[in-house]
Amino acid sequence: MENEAKLTAGAITTFGIAVAALVVLPYIQVRDIQPPEGLKPYTSAELRGREIYVANGCLYCHTQQPRDRSFAPDFDRGWGRVTTPGDYYYDKPHLLGSMRTGPDLMNIGVRQPSMDWHLGHLYQPRAYVPDSTMPSYPYMFEVKDQAEDDEIIVKLPPKFVPSGKVVVARPEAVDLVKYLRSLDRSYPILPPDPQNAGKKDR
Ligand code: HEC
Repeated sequence: MENEAKLTAGAITTFGIAVAALVVLPYIQVRDIQPPEGLKPYTSAELRGREIYVANGCLYCHTQQPRDRSFAPDFDRGWGRVTTPGDYYYDKPHLLGSMRTGPDLMNIGVRQPSMDWHLGHLYQPRAYVPDSTMPSYPYMFEVKDQAEDDEIIVKLPPKFVPSGKVVVARPEAVDLVKYLRSLDRSYPILPPDPQNAGKKDR
């Protein structure tokens, strides 16, 4: 009996320490974070695009967390500065990702602002990067004889256009690209507080 009580107390204590370290402390650290001045809230089209990003599993291959220059050459790869908690203010839930089969996308809107490029790349990544392992997303597009007036024709390299047809983007492809283009965390973040700079414990 005594052992059972000890076991239970031990389990509860371990669980309590884990919750404090992994839930309570991080919550206290980030609860008062404000959005940086340069960060705009997502528009409704961008938010729809974000849902399409999640639904299609883009985050299984792409992170949204460039690392600090002392850890990795992410900045030199053109992926942008290290992110801070405020950069994710409007991301609920955040899409940090944990696997980089493809490049980090936190600043893809800066690196590649072209709607045409993104649409073409989603339709057929190999049209732009011959040995790309990224899947194509043909169901976000329609192959037709002729486009309607209000439809966006995807400007692909000629040999990737089915002959005699046009490829038009469905609204989900356009929303997804609007979301990708909104990924821009290139505004400056505040420098460290000068009063504390140089203190030993920093
Ligand atoms: C199986 C892994 C995989 C999945 C899933 C995936 N990608 Fe990719 N992605 C890649 C790879 C590899 C590259 C690099 C080659 C290329 O540009 O095609 C890439 C490149 C990109 C680029 C260009 C990045 C740059 O810096 O030039 C964008 C934008 C992109 N992916 C968006 C997406 C979106 C949006 C989705 C979801 C609809 C997605 N990817 C799903 C693997 C993936």
